[in-house]
Amino acid sequence: MQTPQSLSGYTIKMFVSTTSFEKSGDQTERTQSSDSSVGEFDDESTLEFRKTFGYSQEMEDRLQAIRDKDFARLDEQQCVYLDYTGAMLAPDSLVDEHGKTLRASVLGNPHSENAPSLSATDMDIIARETVLSFCQASPDDYTVIWTANASGALRVVGECYPFQRGGAFLYALDCHNSVLGIGEFARKKKAKISGFNFLPDSLSYDWSSFTKQVDKLSKGKAPKLLGFPAESNVSGYAHDVRRYVDYAHGKGWDVFVDTAAFAPANPIDMKALGNPDFLSVSFCKLFRK
Ligand SMILES: Cc1ncc(COP(=O)(O)O)c(C=O)c1O
Repeated sequence: MQTPQSLSGYTIKMFVSTTSFEKSGDQTERTQSSDSSVGEFDDESTLEFRKTFGYSQEMEDRLQAIRDKDFARLDEQQCVYLDYTGAMLAPDSLVDEHGKTLRASVLGNPHSENAPSLSATDMDIIARETVLSFCQASPDDYTVIWTANASGALRVVGECYPFQRGGAFLYALDCHNSVLGIGEFARKKKAKISGFNFLPDSLSYDWSSFTKQVDKLSKGKAPKLLGFPAESNVSGYAHDVRRYVDYAHGKGWDVFVDTAAFAPANPIDMKALGNPDFLSVSFCKLFRK
């Protein structure tokens, strides 16, 4: 696995641009300053980086083509944007295409018999089928629930899960804040809450501590929920999801897997993930042309 530390030996020079707001008199003035002392990528470092991480010229050309076509504003504003997975930038072509669809369609609420409503229903059906097929999930087993983002999806799980006294919520300590929020729903309904940690060297979960906690919390019939990320946004580590899902299922638990950080760079296959009971995806982090 490539940890962030593995990159520290490389000098990647970037053009840094900063924007600040300064108050002068009654007016707030926006000033832009650029550090032009750093310029192009350093050749030797770039070559070494490419060699070590298998980053070919072809990949670079493809990325540059996407950048030219969909994110020209980055170059126009001399901006290096590094948080695509946290908050994606809308690609120009997607905005154009969606704008065209909205301008050409008359869409109503998708639950009536009139023509605008039926058009919206058709779109909704196609979108649901597309999501299920993207996740390699059978419509017999899974239902798509639209939410604004992955945090919204995790909130729905927390709000609806039948936590109760004698039940439990067990979560991984390298999960996203939005998973921690589920603990509050469990706490209010008197379920037990516990976390399991990852090993500092390998970044994978401590299997024996995980199984011990599941076993300890498994007493009684009250519903129990396990939650963890397929890929951690804390460590960047992609976990062996199926192993944990299978173990918890074997003890009668429900499991949710958060794929918000995993899905941008990995295919989702429900079966390969052990058929979790809930799965959260953040499509705004994926869609690009
Ligand atoms: C692992 C993980 N889970 C959940 C989220 C929250 O996703 P969203 O921004 O769609 O609410 C993120 C955001 O980066 C994430 O990395």
